[in-house]
Amino acid sequence: MRQKLEEIRERAAKELEAATDLAAIEELRVKFLGKKGELTAILKQMGGVAPEERPKLGQLANEARGYIEQIIADKNEELQKAALANKLVEEKIDVTAPSKRRKLGSKHPLTIVLDEIKDIFIGMGFDIAQGPEVEWDYYNFEALNIPENHPARDTQDTFYITEKMLLRTQTSPVQIRVMENKKPPIRIIAPGRVYRADTVDATHSPLFHQIEGLVIDKGVTMADLKGTLELFVKSLYGEDSQIRLRPHHFPFTEPSCEIDVACFRCHGAGCPLCKGEGWIEILGAGMVHPKVLENGGVDPNVYSGFAFGMGLERVVMRRFNIDDIRLFYDNDLRFLEQF
Ligand code: PHE
Repeated sequence: MRQKLEEIRERAAKELEAATDLAAIEELRVKFLGKKGELTAILKQMGGVAPEERPKLGQLANEARGYIEQIIADKNEELQKAALANKLVEEKIDVTAPSKRRKLGSKHPLTIVLDEIKDIFIGMGFDIAQGPEVEWDYYNFEALNIPENHPARDTQDTFYITEKMLLRTQTSPVQIRVMENKKPPIRIIAPGRVYRADTVDATHSPLFHQIEGLVIDKGVTMADLKGTLELFVKSLYGEDSQIRLRPHHFPFTEPSCEIDVACFRCHGAGCPLCKGEGWIEILGAGMVHPKVLENGGVDPNVYSGFAFGMGLERVVMRRFNIDDIRLFYDNDLRFLEQF
């Protein structure tokens, strides 16, 4: 029996040594130590052993069990370590490898310049106002002193939705909406999309952007208009820029003017950029017409104000030397990535 125990120990050690996976080890555990295993089978033969031999043999059998259990535990650990090491190699991440480049979006050129313009006016105490792009004829024309059959309506080829509803042709309707909702003093700019049924070419688009301005308070004069817009132009185009006011006509301002900036390239001498004029028109403005104040619910005997409106696209085109307005709306990444 001693021999048998010895033989089992050796065989178990050998076979476990050869085992290469956890399932094989479990199989061997059952084979040697299980209820029907070889060691158990031997212990069952204890009955046939002389009583004085039994304690000794029992001890040997326990040692054999302990020994085999130990090998199994060692082997298990060894295999688990190997599996882990293997996994670490297989799943290794090279943190120094170059990563995939993730493209970051950038601001649209119209947004870049609009943000700048907003900052300038916010710095002067203006708020940002908004109005709907689908507008009533009333706000876009009627309340702005452009009655039905007024020739000014023809100059703004309007997209009508119904007889009374349209796509706004200018941001000026926001003037009325602001006056309706807020008591003076009022100091706002209202940037947004406007629509005109123009034929598309390098300088015309049926959708473009305007920035409206409106200031109403007691005692506001043309001098405030000039001072404000001069400061604006100097902030946008540089301290040495010059402006001039040219008489003009808008139905909703009286008096009205257009404001030109001295050409950035020739400074007034005349060149291709300013088409020989020496000056570049950048906005329309004027003192808010008393009828328009009234339409907005503001008493023209108490308050006065000025308003202005400018196109954003042309400012941006000059800033970045863009020669075709359509580039703004094509969403061509080769264009957009340059900003
Ligand atoms: N709404 C005018 C336009 O589209 C611009 C303007 C706004 C002029 C406010 C005067 C005052 O041409």
